[in-house]
Amino acid sequence: MPAFFLLMTIDEIKAAFDRELAAAETKQALSDLHTRYFGSKGVMKDVFRELKSLPSEEKKALGAAINPFTEAAQAQLKEKLDRVSADEDRRREARETIDVTLPSRLPRLGHLHPITLVRRQMEEIFRDMGYSIDPGPELETDWYNFEALNFTPDHPARDTQDTFFLDNAERHLLRTHTSNVQIRSMERFKPPVKVFSAGRVFRRDEITMRRSPMFHQAEGFLVDRGIHIGHLRATLEHFIRRLFGDDAKMRMRPSFFPFTEPSAEVDMSCVFCKGAGCGTCSQTGWMEILGCGMIHPQVLRNVGIDPEEWSGFAFGTGLDRIAMLKYDVPNIRTLFENDLRVLSQF
Ligand code: PHE
Repeated sequence: MPAFFLLMTIDEIKAAFDRELAAAETKQALSDLHTRYFGSKGVMKDVFRELKSLPSEEKKALGAAINPFTEAAQAQLKEKLDRVSADEDRRREARETIDVTLPSRLPRLGHLHPITLVRRQMEEIFRDMGYSIDPGPELETDWYNFEALNFTPDHPARDTQDTFFLDNAERHLLRTHTSNVQIRSMERFKPPVKVFSAGRVFRRDEITMRRSPMFHQAEGFLVDRGIHIGHLRATLEHFIRRLFGDDAKMRMRPSFFPFTEPSAEVDMSCVFCKGAGCGTCSQTGWMEILGCGMIHPQVLRNVGIDPEEWSGFAFGTGLDRIAMLKYDVPNIRTLFENDLRVLSQF
């Protein structure tokens, strides 16, 4: 190969190298470029192999042309490689840097159900007064739900129209009220005894705005020496004020329950109009919120407590109704549908 041709070739190689160098923008591309030109099977190896076969005069002249190219090319490669690596390092650092001062994303927390909120508030009020908390069983026998509570055998509540019986003998049932806890607790503990109990109860009711076949009640009762209706009234007044605020008023009206004597129904001043009269309280200024009374002597006798020595009071209230009043929920179904759009408001 004549020296002249080889010289031209070196100019071409240099031009090609410059183009490729300009186009190589990553460490990988630059390393490939280096291999292609200066590697063991690279372009320059071929050039040197051909150079060897030339006469020594030409060899000298050409060597002088090749060396500056090789040196310059390698220097350029190194300079660009340094620049590209620095860029890549900077980009990676920016990508991987963690700003530990950024506020973290909050986990999505659930909400307590309004029934749970009301139940806990009530439990707290009665726990503060020294009551034990006992939810009692939902599955009951006739004895705890009816008989021991002095319901006569033909009492309408015992009708299959009203009660979910679990067997044909009508011995087992879903409790229709939380008053079963009175009997269970009095059997277990000797007086003096104070128990508060909240939980689910079941009745064969149609679903309406205010009724549902499953709903919640709360029950409290106390047995001690010398207990009279004044203790009951004071306890309920304290309870209502703590739950609804100091300006909540209450009144008692005579009523009837088989397991209390005397019995009363308790009204509270309407939470919406504060007693002035509005649509919700049918213009009366009052709303009925619980039933209560002095525990019937026969009930005490049924659990082996001597009514000559001991007396007590009991009261029962609808938790759902209280939640509806407290949170202004007009429809009981809203409480049981568990629609997150509703629940997240509490
Ligand atoms: N158990 C009664 C009811 O379900 C309420 C009540 C409880 C009344 C305790 C008096 C005493 O209606």
